[in-house]
Amino acid sequence: MILPIVAYGDPVLKKEAEEIEEKYPELNQLIASMFETMYEASGVGLAAPQVGKSIRLFIVDGSPFAEPEEDGSIDPKAIGLENFKKVFINPIIEEESGEEWGFNEGCLSIPEIREEVYRKEKVTLSYYNEKWELKEEVFEGYAARIVQHEYDHVDGVLFTDRISPLKKRLLSKKLSNISKGDVKVSYRMKFPLRKKQR
Ligand code: NI
Repeated sequence: MILPIVAYGDPVLKKEAEEIEEKYPELNQLIASMFETMYEASGVGLAAPQVGKSIRLFIVDGSPFAEPEEDGSIDPKAIGLENFKKVFINPIIEEESGEEWGFNEGCLSIPEIREEVYRKEKVTLSYYNEKWELKEEVFEGYAARIVQHEYDHVDGVLFTDRISPLKKRLLSKKLSNISKGDVKVSYRMKFPLRKKQR
């Protein structure tokens, strides 16, 4: 089932989400709906707070990054991403290391805005997968980037919290328009300040 994606300004996006237990009701259904919702919106990651659930769960599918460039080359940061489809439940960042690098991030909750965000190269995450197997893995390149961005969502942090106050001020009008639903978007959204919901 395609779920509406919550837009910038909704308090659920600013809340630190709660861990869940294995008996969380209809978890498999929720995960399936999140994948359907993410694909419909052409995203590479989606966190539960973005569909209005304040729980520590996110999904990723980085395969769009694995598409070769026009000249047939593959970006080294995208190596292995064709199989990077995962579910992360109750994730914990164990370590982040390496140099910080800038990447122009976007977010399904903040359509039409992209900004350069700096994050470390490598991230070690422990988490449960959809079968509730405990995993610990190291991610690099775009895989790390996607995981770091989605992990932020379950902590109530958006990429706009990681840009300079000046840049954020320059975006303030656009951000308030997004909250009001005054933005062109091709997927279903829920806007916190929209007078009449679609
Ligand atoms: Ni996002």
